[in-house]
Amino acid sequence: MVVLWVVGSIAFLWTLLTFLAEIKGKENIILFGDSSSKRTAWLVYNPDLFYNLDQQVCSSFAQALADQGWLAKVATVAAAEKMGSETVDLYVFCANTYNWAPDWPTSNYIKNHQVLQGKNAVAITLGSGSTGNSQRLLEEMLNAKEVRLLASITLWLMRPNDENDSKTSNVQMAKEKAKQLGKKIAQTLVDE
Ligand SMILES: Cc1cc2nc3c(=O)[nH]c(=O)nc-3n(C[C@H](O)[C@H](O)[C@H](O)COP(=O)(O)O)c2cc1C
Repeated sequence: MVVLWVVGSIAFLWTLLTFLAEIKGKENIILFGDSSSKRTAWLVYNPDLFYNLDQQVCSSFAQALADQGWLAKVATVAAAEKMGSETVDLYVFCANTYNWAPDWPTSNYIKNHQVLQGKNAVAITLGSGSTGNSQRLLEEMLNAKEVRLLASITLWLMRPNDENDSKTSNVQMAKEKAKQLGKKIAQTLVDE
């Protein structure tokens, strides 16, 4: 009886936490680069309740694009939904993982966004450390929208992002990896 009560309470609290984590966060946009840039990227994420690794990773990627002459808009899902129908050269989706799946607001944004077909996209799956299934689901979602998926990576809050580097903090390493990928993607797209 006690065991049932304990298991039931944990299940109830976890479900509550899940629903709180899956709520669509506030509108927020951060701009990187020059508005007269020829190339525009949108980096879309839904803010996590507890920590802003999502925003930090997106911002690092965006800074790398800006360094290569792009205008990069880091937007929460709520803000991205209100952004007009400008030409976007690259979409970067930073999805948080809840219960081994990408967060609902980012997933719904991808499913409902009309203009993704044929667009360049990058998938970044975030989580504390168990993101394999979530990454696969995010890729499937993007492939179903027939995007041109240029890269898909996963970055973690707790699990080491680079096991060979114990000096750099894990969050710093996640940001560094996002920045490296941003630079690489900008260089890949430079001649197109
Ligand atoms: C209800 C709940 C479920 C979660 N499930 C997972 C999971 O299955 N795998 C994982 O790696 N992280 C999981 N996490 C951790 C979040 O994904 C993590 O906090 C977030 O992605 C890290 O980025 P942030 O700093 O932007 O929060 C979970 C967190 C919560 C609150």
